[in-house]
Amino acid sequence: MGNKIINTIINVRTFDELSLEYQQLIEEAKKQTEKAYAPYSNFKVGSAILLENKMIMGGNNQENIAYPSGLCAERVGVFYANSQYPDVPISAVAVAAFTTGDFTLLPVNPCSACLQVLAESEMRQKKDITLLLYGKENVHIIKSIKECLPLHFEF
Ligand code: THU
Repeated sequence: MGNKIINTIINVRTFDELSLEYQQLIEEAKKQTEKAYAPYSNFKVGSAILLENKMIMGGNNQENIAYPSGLCAERVGVFYANSQYPDVPISAVAVAAFTTGDFTLLPVNPCSACLQVLAESEMRQKKDITLLLYGKENVHIIKSIKECLPLHFEF
């Protein structure tokens, strides 16, 4: 018996160092924050989903006065993409968050419920989904969801 070690590699980049495709995806995630419905937290999150066929789709957080009824930006975006294009794999998901008049300095990580949903999309399509987490200071890139949530639920 021994230990099992879990490693997550986070690639830290400046926005300018990214490919044009990734820059555009992040710009879309930033734009999506403008349409978020977040009157209770005032924390507006945007997601942008890059499909393998190069289509870009978006989502944002949708809150509700009955708090648990709301949904995070990542799940809104990924469920939307999977509902409309169930057979087109997702290549990458970008996330940005805007609060108190500006985008966050540091990248915001998807919550574990969103990672669980992303993990299932990744398993379903049998192709990695790259995460791009935007912060004004730098961007975190993680090459697959299983890297973020290796202990996701499955049976
Ligand atoms: N939120 C997201 O949209 N994505 C996350 O990964 C974490 C949190 C939203 C939920 C809620 O509307 C607001 O951010 C504050 O928690």
